[in-house]
Amino acid sequence: MYKANAYSAASATSPLNSTTIARRDPSEHDVQIDILFCGICHSDLHQVRDEWSGVMPTIYPCVPGHEIVGSVAKVGSAVSRFKPGDLAAVGCLVDSDRTCRECQEGQEQFCPNFTLTYNFPDRHLGGVTYGGYSDSIVVDERFVLRVPSNLDLAGAAPLLCAGITTYSPLRHWNVTKDKKVGVVGLGGLGHMGVKLAHALGAHVVVFTTSPKKKDDALRLGADEVVMSRNTDDMQKQVGSFDFILDAVSADHDIGAYINLLRRDGNIVLVGAPEKPLAVSSFSLIMGRRSLSGSPIGGLPETQEMLDFCGQHNITADVEVIPIQKVNEAYDRMMSGKVQFRAVLTMPS
Ligand SMILES: NC(=O)c1ccc[n+]([C@@H]2O[C@H](COP(=O)([O-])OP(=O)(O)OC[C@H]3O[C@@H](n4cnc5c(N)ncnc54)[C@H](OP(=O)(O)O)[C@@H]3O)[C@@H](O)[C@H]2O)c1
Ligand SMILES: [Zn+2]
Ligand SMILES: [Zn+2]
Repeated sequence: MYKANAYSAASATSPLNSTTIARRDPSEHDVQIDILFCGICHSDLHQVRDEWSGVMPTIYPCVPGHEIVGSVAKVGSAVSRFKPGDLAAVGCLVDSDRTCRECQEGQEQFCPNFTLTYNFPDRHLGGVTYGGYSDSIVVDERFVLRVPSNLDLAGAAPLLCAGITTYSPLRHWNVTKDKKVGVVGLGGLGHMGVKLAHALGAHVVVFTTSPKKKDDALRLGADEVVMSRNTDDMQKQVGSFDFILDAVSADHDIGAYINLLRRDGNIVLVGAPEKPLAVSSFSLIMGRRSLSGSPIGGLPETQEMLDFCGQHNITADVEVIPIQKVNEAYDRMMSGKVQFRAVLTMPS
């Protein structure tokens, strides 16, 4: 074991504070990574504040962070894909059983025995896993990804959650150039959804509650921007969408978006608000529309997404801040000021 520096929350109401945590020494299949950048996902905030207590209660102290990019410090004797000095990335998953059907098919995000990067039982050290708000992490090489060398590293970090969480449903529901695609909520996930759907050739419409984001939405690749609180503008879009990606972090009227789908259209929830959303049966029945959800992505698809971003030169728009300012970054995220992802740098 060795000690790493980290930021942790002691309770649902306490700020994140500097601390030290134990990391395992790398065993034969492990990669030890010096973390350079870690994105701040809204899921980190939900988890730190125990807003998902009904589904995954938070165990304190909690060290969040699952958008990790760094440099390989050490590798175990059996590691073949990485050597010291290589760039490496880690997302939301650090382990799975590798034997179930989901794992065999490279869909580790559905493995009943996966281990999430933080707030999950740690099979090695006991207690729970600690995430990327830290200067070092040790991960089995199977769960370590390669970052294309042309990508800006800080901008690449959010690809590990915001990128794959939007890429996976776009690919699964076959978003291509003939499709009209809506993206609801222009935050960390939403802005990646816009970039990726645009790169896949779709006609992209952004729905936002923030008038000041309009120019940015167009710059990011949107073909149209709709102010979702303007009922007349919403009405003009009724029945026209093949696919809508809902990346909103808080309670909102999902019915207003279901009505925008055409026959057999699908709206996928990637946003995970604290409270359940109300759905009218009729909005789904009329038009045979579907409402679905999608979690992150498996390892092969996450690497595919990183390579796709390398080919299309896609990274997140980031605000890089020192980890000491993490609590301010949470406040900025809650007040909608982050454009569009805050990324922590670790003290050297
Ligand atoms: N499915 C998964 O595997 C997965 C993975 C990662 C994250 N998530 C979840 O996805 C959600 C978004 O994460 P994020 O990191 O992108 O968050 P974020 O950066 O805070 O963005 C959320 C966006 O939602 C919109 N919004 C916020 N409050 C709203 C309200 N009261 N009414 C309407 N719109 C509102 C805002 O967009 P506008 O200003 O444009 O309106 C905001 O930018 C979170 O719930 C997170 O936990 C899920
Ligand atoms: Zn996330
Ligand atoms: Zn499995």
